[in-house]
Amino acid sequence: MSLLDTFDVLNPEVINNPYPYFAELREKAPLFWLKSLQAHVVSRYEDVTYILKNPALFSSVDIRVNGQLAKETSPLDGSVANLVNSDPPIHTRLRGLVSRAFLPKRIAEMEPRVLELSRGLIAEMTARDEFDFMDGLASPLPVTVISEMLGIEVSRRRDFKRWSDSLIQSGAQTLRDGKPPEEAIRNTKEMSDYMSEIAEKRRLEPKGDLISLLVQSSDGVEALTPQEVNSFAIILLIAGNETTTNLLGNSLVSLIRNPEQYEWLRRNPTREACARVSEETLRYDSPVMGLMRRATQDVELSGGKVPEGSTVVAMLASANHDPRKFSNPERFDPERETNGLMSFGHGIHFCLGAPLTRLEAPVALKDLMERAPRLGFASRQPERIDYGGSFFLRGPRSLWLRKN
Ligand code: HEM
Repeated sequence: MSLLDTFDVLNPEVINNPYPYFAELREKAPLFWLKSLQAHVVSRYEDVTYILKNPALFSSVDIRVNGQLAKETSPLDGSVANLVNSDPPIHTRLRGLVSRAFLPKRIAEMEPRVLELSRGLIAEMTARDEFDFMDGLASPLPVTVISEMLGIEVSRRRDFKRWSDSLIQSGAQTLRDGKPPEEAIRNTKEMSDYMSEIAEKRRLEPKGDLISLLVQSSDGVEALTPQEVNSFAIILLIAGNETTTNLLGNSLVSLIRNPEQYEWLRRNPTREACARVSEETLRYDSPVMGLMRRATQDVELSGGKVPEGSTVVAMLASANHDPRKFSNPERFDPERETNGLMSFGHGIHFCLGAPLTRLEAPVALKDLMERAPRLGFASRQPERIDYGGSFFLRGPRSLWLRKN
């Protein structure tokens, strides 16, 4: 029996460790028909890049998952264009409007605050001998940073996290049941109402936050419509939240499971080395496994045919393990060259938050190395990490560590 017979995004073995399956896909079936998603899975680096580089051939609009239009089964309002679900020219306009909030200079200015937040959380977490790393640092740091950026009240951060978790968790359930769970619909409505309320307040009385920037027009740059602001704030909440959380969790798992590399970092706990660990974790165990697109015409890929209208999954995490691109890809090696990694996507939709993640993760790792340089799995941490049944967004639900 081949691993291909059991490859499925709902299979717990695949969720636990997808990499052997990806190797088999790349070698034996680089264009693989996945019945449960009704989609073609594309696993080689070259093909993944080709898809993401060609938005005219592979659209982000009207993608079907298991035959159903994703926008109709999502708890979000699918009728509003946002960055992720649009193509040029709509995407070009939206990206132009919001990218000013993510200019490298603006992000660099956030460093002292990120450091302060990270220090506070790490000091509190490591005051105990054993702790849940996800709960103590990996979750609260990104959610606090993005909340402050957006300008939402500190007291609502827990709601923020709950809304975001609920939406993420709804993905797998929607796939199983064909419709989103009621709870996710309720939470999404709550989140959307809250964002609209904030946007309205900022329109009347702007502050220095991101929502104020988006609701105002300046220097001839038009403002987003209220619906667009709402949709963008929700995208940021989710994109800026779970992903960096997962990256931090996956970094710690990778370091503890690779003692030689952890020792390398201990001998050399600089900001640059921490940035290398973060980049290599992005490659080695990507927080985002794959991206979906719709073929706009019949296309040939990997020697096979993809008919017009069908869904393709560009498997980023598999591209990151393609030996044609990265030598010895199954080895976690922070000293390697990671240029060209696919974890932030590629082309026009390349992650807008990449500079923020590239600030947050190394800052947090460096401080952690100073406070608690010898972490190991606590006895209550099961050997098998709980990924919460989620294939596409990969990171531990909880991660119990102890100071050695
Ligand atoms: C480890 C951290 C992160 C990873 C792995 C990640 C991954 C990605 C990927 C793969 C895409 C491409 C989506 C597509 O092509 O359809 C993307 C887009 C995006 N990301 Fe991130 N992301 C991360 C962190 C963040 C953060 C911190 C923010 C914001 C604060 C953010 C905001 C966005 C936005 C707004 C887009 C849409 C860009 C567009 O469509 O033009 N991301 N991200």
